[in-house]
Amino acid sequence: MANPFTLRVIPPSFPFCNRVTELKELYSHADNKANVVLFSPRRYGKTSLIRRLQADLSDKGFFTFYIDFFMATSENEIARRISQSIYSVLHKRESLLNKGVRFLKTFKTFRPVFKPSPESGLSFSVEPVSSVMSGIDLIDNLMEELGIFIRKESINAHIVFDEFQEISELKKSSIEGVLRRHIQEQQASYFFVGSRRRILLDMFDKKNRPFYQSAIMYPLKPLPDKELVSFLVERFKEGRKNCPIRVAEKISEKVSQYPYYVQALAYNIFEISEDTVSDNDIQAGFNNMLASERYGYEAVVQGLTGPQIALLKALAVDAVSKILSSEYMKRHRLSAGGIQYARNKLEKLDLIEKHNNIWKIVDPVFGCWLAGY
Ligand SMILES: Nc1ncnc2c1ncn2[C@@H]1O[C@H](COP(=O)(O)OP(=O)(O)O)[C@@H](O)[C@H]1O
Ligand SMILES: [Mg+2]
Repeated sequence: MANPFTLRVIPPSFPFCNRVTELKELYSHADNKANVVLFSPRRYGKTSLIRRLQADLSDKGFFTFYIDFFMATSENEIARRISQSIYSVLHKRESLLNKGVRFLKTFKTFRPVFKPSPESGLSFSVEPVSSVMSGIDLIDNLMEELGIFIRKESINAHIVFDEFQEISELKKSSIEGVLRRHIQEQQASYFFVGSRRRILLDMFDKKNRPFYQSAIMYPLKPLPDKELVSFLVERFKEGRKNCPIRVAEKISEKVSQYPYYVQALAYNIFEISEDTVSDNDIQAGFNNMLASERYGYEAVVQGLTGPQIALLKALAVDAVSKILSSEYMKRHRLSAGGIQYARNKLEKLDLIEKHNNIWKIVDPVFGCWLAGY
């Protein structure tokens, strides 16, 4: 029997645990043409949730645009991605191969370029029409065109910028101001989604930033325990295995209802368990999960400096309210030089956070690994 758990972004038609209220509220915000900042730690299910939301919106006639800013390292690249998303949506409505397509009159900054593709026969990319225009001007023109299109065609538009905080990596760029100016004028709903919360939230709650107080803040929480337990039992059953409720409760607790780890742990448990899942499978599955996750963790640690690693390890075994207290620093042999910088940097990377006045590791399984569990 195929493993019923998955480590990927969940497509809209696949089984999904709960998020019923979230879907309802987010749908309503989109319908009201409100702008929303959807944020949480990595791998909490933001992208999966957005896919589902956009599938619902699309069924109701919305034009849904999804743009991922992950690793978009230049303004040109961002412009290209926005344009690619616009054309993919429009192409589905009215084939771009048809020369008379109506909306090509509005979109003039980029043009679609078709090439043969083994899978679908034809695929397309986009390229700027003018070879001299670049960077912020491309974005400016494109956003202008999108605004005109939305108005002229009176469409309901829902636009998602995933991993939106990445634009702040573009040094000296006026992109925030330019996007904000257009977004403010458009009758559309924009969702800004992101995992690196300090950076993302700074964009919306700092007075000197263009996006200051321009959107509804919407934190995404871990999965609710009760629904998660039923989900696990149900999924194991789908894979023809019996997972007693008591065991499902332990699985949920073991990973603190963290969406990605729920799937990863259950996946590993499914692989090793007999017809009925037992308590012993939980730890064994957890160890197998860590054995594959550790490569990612090692890569994270490799990108850090000595003081940053020292602080991370200290917090993994000893969460605390005052990192800078001399007592805490002495206990963990942290040196005063650079500790504040280390804390800020780790927070920006979303590796640590202050929650209920306590500094702790954001990702509990990474924390386990750091602590040598
Ligand atoms: N509602 C859910 N039910 C079950 N699994 C989920 C749910 N939401 C997310 N997941 C799991 O969590 C993982 C991360 O989801 P993803 O949408 O990529 O998160 P994010 O965009 O927040 O980083 C995926 O592997 C997915 O299987
Ligand atoms: Mg995502």
